Amino acid sequence: MQLDKVKSLPKKVINNIEGIDGLTVYLVQDYNNSFLRRLVDFGEKVFGELGMDQWGLVPQIRHGNVYVLKEENKKTISGLAILMRDWEDSEKVYLFDYAIADDLQGNRLGYYFLNIIINNIEEQGFKRMSLTVDIENEPAVRLYEKIGFRILETSVDEYGKSHDRYIMLLEFN
Ligand SMILES: CC(C)(COP(=O)(O)OP(=O)(O)OC[C@H]1O[C@@H](n2cnc3c(N)ncnc32)[C@H](O)[C@@H]1OP(=O)(O)O)[C@@H](O)C(=O)NCCC(=O)NCCS
Repeated sequence: MQLDKVKSLPKKVINNIEGIDGLTVYLVQDYNNSFLRRLVDFGEKVFGELGMDQWGLVPQIRHGNVYVLKEENKKTISGLAILMRDWEDSEKVYLFDYAIADDLQGNRLGYYFLNIIINNIEEQGFKRMSLTVDIENEPAVRLYEKIGFRILETSVDEYGKSHDRYIMLLEFN
């Protein structure tokens, strides 16, 4: 298993979260069976049957960018982000999955985790990031707007009937 350390979250963010000493963002470069299982379980817990299984995760680790948020030397995953390059625009990445563990939501971790990812993606030479989000997912829409994403359009039935999504874009400065 190979996790490349990207950056730790500022200590002040973690201060008031019981039982957590510090959280670090890692880029997943390789995996073993137990880590892969934990990634799949994390996705299933947050997204239910829509979570990515090992058939989706392995190609993403090998060919995309998978980031995790976790305590150093501990196994529990606190956050997950999966990104892919855009085929139409080589300067754009697409945020495919983004989540913070249920019991840690509302502590500003989503905000800091995504900002660290955006800086890392920008350092890799990309100029913009896009995503889609369910129009009724208020916490996520607000988080993305707070970070600077803007709604470009609403895609009706994006994932099938009644699954309307906002298409959002962030241009890096
Ligand atoms: C969306 C998600 C990643 C946000 O992570 P989080 O750590 O809970 O968010 P933060 O605490 O960093 O909040 C950042 C901002 O998001 C918004 N926000 C977060 N939770 C919110 C809620 N329950 N209601 C309204 N706005 C909320 C707020 O604007 C907040 O800023 P503020 O604290 O200054 O008001 C998290 O709720 C999650 O994992 N949800 C399930 C998976 C999901 O829906 N992912 C998005 C798929 S596109």
